[in-house]
Amino acid sequence: MCGIVGYTGTRQAAPLLLNGLDRLEYRGYDSAGLAVKGPDAKLHVVKAMGRLSALREKCHNGAALSGTAGVGHTRWATHGKPSDENSHPHVSGNGRIAIVHNGIIENYAPLKEMLENRGRVFASETDTEVAAHLIDYYYKGDLLDAVARAVRELEGSYAIGVVCADEPGTLVAAKSHAPLIVGYGEGENFFASDVVALAEHTRTVSYLDDDEIAVVRPDSVTFYTPFLDEIQKERKEVDWDISAADKGGYEHYMFKEIMEQPEAVRRTVEPFLRDGRADLSQVLDAELVRRLNRLYVVACGSSYHVGVVAKYTMEKQVRIPVEVVLASEFRYCDPILDGNTLVICISQSGETADTLEALKEAKAGGAYTLSIVNVEGSSIAREANSVIYTKAGPEIAVATTKAYSTQLAVMVLLTLYFGAVRGAMDQETYDAILTELLAVPDKLRRILEDKAHIQYLAYRFFNNEDIFFIGRNIDYALSLEGSLKLKEISYIHSDAYAAGELKHGTISLVVNGTLVIAITSFERLVEKTASNALEVRARGATVLAVTTEHLRQRVEHAADEIIVIPDTHEALLPSLAVLPLQLFAYYMALYRGCDIDKPRNLAKSVTVE
Ligand code: G6P
Repeated sequence: MCGIVGYTGTRQAAPLLLNGLDRLEYRGYDSAGLAVKGPDAKLHVVKAMGRLSALREKCHNGAALSGTAGVGHTRWATHGKPSDENSHPHVSGNGRIAIVHNGIIENYAPLKEMLENRGRVFASETDTEVAAHLIDYYYKGDLLDAVARAVRELEGSYAIGVVCADEPGTLVAAKSHAPLIVGYGEGENFFASDVVALAEHTRTVSYLDDDEIAVVRPDSVTFYTPFLDEIQKERKEVDWDISAADKGGYEHYMFKEIMEQPEAVRRTVEPFLRDGRADLSQVLDAELVRRLNRLYVVACGSSYHVGVVAKYTMEKQVRIPVEVVLASEFRYCDPILDGNTLVICISQSGETADTLEALKEAKAGGAYTLSIVNVEGSSIAREANSVIYTKAGPEIAVATTKAYSTQLAVMVLLTLYFGAVRGAMDQETYDAILTELLAVPDKLRRILEDKAHIQYLAYRFFNNEDIFFIGRNIDYALSLEGSLKLKEISYIHSDAYAAGELKHGTISLVVNGTLVIAITSFERLVEKTASNALEVRARGATVLAVTTEHLRQRVEHAADEIIVIPDTHEALLPSLAVLPLQLFAYYMALYRGCDIDKPRNLAKSVTVE
C-alpha cells in the first residue's frame, strides 16, 4: 500500500525517482507525486491523480523538475479519496518540508487539532499532511531533530521520507510497521519501500527496523533511534535479478509470471532436496516437529488459500490438526497457542500488515513461528523464528500466480518432511508425493502448451456476469483461488462453494446460462461433484469441468466443456489445476479490456490493517 522512494546524489533526481515509482506502482496507483529540492533552494512539487503515466506527462518525464535530491510516492488511498490535493508529497504550509508516507497515522486527529490551534492551515484530508506540519513545527534548523521529535509523537504505521528546502542534499527517512530500506551507491544514496525500486542502481542495502531513522546524504547514511542515539546497521547484498522484474516481451506481467511458474517451482523445491529426501531440518528442527500437536496457517488473500489446500493435504497425509485462519481474524480471536504449536505465516510480500501482526501475536502466545515468504529481508521473514523463501522472483502483477504456486510447493515439502519425521507416512506414499512434486514443472509446461484451448473458453464465456466455482476437498480449496483470480482481474462477480453446500442456498442464484466451473480432479469425490454439476445443469447452468486425464470419462457426461490436466498424486492436484484457472482469469480479463496488472482498488502489498 503506497510506495515511497528517495534519491540524493549528483544526478538529476526526478527521472530516477520516476523509474523507482515505476517499480513500486504495484503498491498502489491512485495517484503519484514528486518533491525535488531545486537549485533555487525551494522544493518543487508535482503530483497527479491516476497512474504514474499522468505524473510523467505532467512533469515531462522529470525534465520539469531540476534538482539532485528528492522524494517520490505512489498512492493507495486510505485517508481521503484519490485526488490531486490528497496526493503525496504533502508540504508544510510554508513550503519548507515535503513528506511521502506509506501507512496510516492513527492519532492524526488530535495532532491536527493541536497544529490548527497553533495556526496551521491544512490543504488536504490526509493523515500524512499532519506529519508534514508537525515536522515543520519542530524544525529549528536540524531536519533529523525535527523528524525525531515528530516520530516520537506519531502512532500507527509509517514509512516516511522527508526533504527540506533548507537542507540541500539531505533526506530523512523513518519507519514503524511499514517497510523501508536504504540503498548505497557511489556518491549517491537511496531509500525505498522495496528493493525492486533500487535494484537497477544498487544491490547493497540496509533494512530499517521499527523506530529507526536514517539520514541519507550523497556520501553518507547514518541511523538513529527516535532519541537520536546513533546505531549501526548491517549492509546486505540482494541477489534479485532486475530483469526478472521486466515484462520480458509479454504484454502483461501477469502472463509472464504465469509462464514462469514451472521454473519458479523448480527453484523453490531444489534447495530442500537432499539424498532423495525433502530435508527441512535447517529450518525446522526434527525434535520440534515431533512434539508439535497443532499447526495454524495464517495468511491473507491467495496465501490464505494456500493454507486451505494445506489443511486438507497435511491433515490427510500427516494426521496433525491444521487450522487455517485469516490473519485479520487470527489477531483478535484469542487463538489457543503453546510451545507445541507451530504457526505458519504465508506471505508473498512479507509485509502484509495483518499477517505481520498475527505473527507477533503468535510469538507472544508462545508458539513457534515459521514464515513462508517471497521477499528476502521483508518484515515477516525477519520476525519469524524460521523462514522458508519461495524462489518465485519479483512478482509485479497484483494478482499473484507464481508466488501462489511456489507457496503450494513449500507446503508439499513440509508435508513430506513432517510425514517422515513423525513417522506418519508410509514409504510408498512418500515416494509418490516426492516424485510428483518433482514432476510439477514439466506437467505445468504441458498445460501451458494447451493454453489456446483455455483462451478459446474465455472467448466463449467472457460476457458472463456471474460465475460460480464448485469442488470438494482440495478441489474446493482450489476453487477459492480460481474464483478470487477471476474476480480480482476481470471484475466478474464470482464465488466459490463446497459443491455439497451449493444446494443449501446458493443454487437459487443459478439461472439459464450461469457458468459453473466444477473442479473435479479429486478422485475419491469425483462422482459426487459430477452429480452437483448435473444438478446445476438441470437448472440451466453451463458447466466447465476441470479434471484429470484418467477421470475425464467419469466427468464428461456432466460437463459442457472440459479442461484436462495431467494425472498426479492428489497432494499435487491443486499445483497443476491452478494453472488453467489462472489462464482462464487472465484471458477473461483480456477480452473484457481490463487493466490486468493493476486491477482497480487493489494493491499488491497491503501494509494497512
Ligand atoms: C493483497 C494481494 C493478494 C495477496 C494478499 C496477501 O490483497 O492483492 O494477491 O494474496 O494481499 O499478500 P501477501 O503478500 O501477504 O501474500
